[in-house]
Amino acid sequence: MTAATTAPADQEPEDRPTDGDPFDRDVLPTPPGATAALLRSLLAPLRARVSVTTLLLLLQQAVVQAGPLLVAYAIDRAVPAFRAGDHGPLVVVAAGYLACALAAGGLQFAFVAAAARVSQDVLLDLRGRIFRHAQALSVDFHERYTSGRLISRSTTDVESLRELLDEGLQELVTVILSFVYISAMLLWLDLGLGGVALASFVPLYALVRLYQRRAGRVYRARSTAIAAVIVKFVETMNGIRPVRAFRREAVNDADFAVLNQRHERTNGDALLEMARYVTGSRLVANTAVAAIVLWGAYRVADGTLALGVLAAAVLYLRRLYDPIDRLGMFLNSYQSAAASLEKIAGLLAQTPSVPEPSAPRQLPPAGEHPGREVVFDGVRFGYRTGGEVLPRFDLTIPAGQTVAVVGSTGAGKSTLAKLLARFYDPSDGRVLLDGVDLRDLAVPELRRAVVMVTQEAFLFSGTVAENIAVGRPDAGREEIERAAKEIGAHDFISALPDGYDTDVRKRGGRISAGQRQLVAFARALLADPAVLILDEATSSLDIPGERAVQRAMATVLKGRTAVVIAHRLSTVEIADRVLVMEQGKIVEDGEPAELVAGTGRFADLHRAWRDSLA
Ligand SMILES: Nc1ncnc2c1ncn2[C@@H]1O[C@H](COP(=O)(O)OP(=O)(O)OP(=O)(O)O)[C@@H](O)[C@H]1O
Ligand SMILES: [Mg+2]
Repeated sequence: MTAATTAPADQEPEDRPTDGDPFDRDVLPTPPGATAALLRSLLAPLRARVSVTTLLLLLQQAVVQAGPLLVAYAIDRAVPAFRAGDHGPLVVVAAGYLACALAAGGLQFAFVAAAARVSQDVLLDLRGRIFRHAQALSVDFHERYTSGRLISRSTTDVESLRELLDEGLQELVTVILSFVYISAMLLWLDLGLGGVALASFVPLYALVRLYQRRAGRVYRARSTAIAAVIVKFVETMNGIRPVRAFRREAVNDADFAVLNQRHERTNGDALLEMARYVTGSRLVANTAVAAIVLWGAYRVADGTLALGVLAAAVLYLRRLYDPIDRLGMFLNSYQSAAASLEKIAGLLAQTPSVPEPSAPRQLPPAGEHPGREVVFDGVRFGYRTGGEVLPRFDLTIPAGQTVAVVGSTGAGKSTLAKLLARFYDPSDGRVLLDGVDLRDLAVPELRRAVVMVTQEAFLFSGTVAENIAVGRPDAGREEIERAAKEIGAHDFISALPDGYDTDVRKRGGRISAGQRQLVAFARALLADPAVLILDEATSSLDIPGERAVQRAMATVLKGRTAVVIAHRLSTVEIADRVLVMEQGKIVEDGEPAELVAGTGRFADLHRAWRDSLA
């Protein structure tokens, strides 16, 4: 993965401007069915444990719902028997009640523990998948999908799923189960009372549906509003240097205030929906209880209903209606979890635009020297967001040749380099390495063969030595030091507090831009690739430093194929051949001396450069 690790300048989200619309749906529509498929694939490996958890809940509910029955029995049988001098039934009821309470507690504990394990496993799996998948996606994906979005996916969205799994789901299953148990009990106790209770579920159901529809909209708006707040926050802090330098604070404050307020507003809307729902459902529930008490009392008075049965029915009704409020809350977490899952599914449904070959081809065995031939064969390419950058590009670089590419800003030089490193695939035509299409090469083999060093040499957290060893992880300390010496980095590394074991901290904060480039060079050298691409790789070095690197390069590049992109023409001196590129086309191609002697664009450039030195 050397090319990717030495050259992530283009992937660095910190250096990218934010794209205007922070809303995911516009960026990444979730394909139909992807959410359900994701859910299935998450639960499939846990099927056995889900079953055990469900069984525990069934048992627990059966035990819990025995309570009111025991009360009815106590009122109608045990108390009269007690009055008549028979203590037996009351003792049995009391013991039964205690036993049920103990069993319910034990089962509840077992259920919560089992459910927690299921939800932890699901979340662990999901976080891992998001990370692996995001990392595997191609560069162009990361150019569209900002790091703030990715962070929001793996934090807020996973968190709302956690809420659903840890609290909401349990709630829903409990509500449904108790509904089934209690309805059965009520009907069994007294058909009439049971019928009234069931009838009350018609308006309640309508309320729930209404709430679900309205809250769904509100919750989706809320979750995108939260994501927008996070995206703005992360991107501002990542770009804190330019924010300072250009005094963007006030603009950012204003932007953030808008997003923050929108979030607050959506939160308020959600609470309002909730309040409406709770009010409505309580009204229905209390009306039903009142009706049953009234009718039940008449029937107790005329002797068609036992008092104990009425008491049990009222107890059951309370249990039946109690969770209705919480059902609303559950629906909340269900709605936001569904919205989150949809967004995660959208991310996971993305496929790399630069896919691994299904039947990879091998490179032919290396020739007498390590270099390989590079051919751009009728390549056309444009970025997703812009016009065509390379209209039709043909170029052959024989194995072992060092080619310098010069040209004005925006001419397409870096694009050429990125195509050769296969960060992108051409829309038309082929890029060939020793006759093999890059698309047919296994990615590890490609990364071994082609290494790119860019201007913004990226350092990982870890030591200097570890950073150089990224080029070849099995390299020993001697090889690491030899690479650093060859490139002229040894002296400054030795002068660091812990030498090669100095921690570079986050993003190489401790060492300068030029020193970072030297480390990146050492890394590339250690990687020992067939094709080396240097894109402005010496731009941060001072003239002596650049000279030193060039001298080293002259030996390093010998026999390798190299593409050296540079604005400073001094770099060109080590090249066998110079290409001048303008607007995606090669306008001059020849040996440096030949071009300098000519009358073309390069001769002009060279003359201007000479004059500037004098
Ligand atoms: N990631 C990208 N997305 C969209 N357009 C891009 C992207 N990168 C480059 N471009 C566009 O492609 C064109 C060529 O860019 P490229 O980076 O290849 O130029 P360059 O020759 O390397 O320039 P420079 O000398 O400034 O580095 C430019 O017009 C640029 O705006
Ligand atoms: Mg460039």
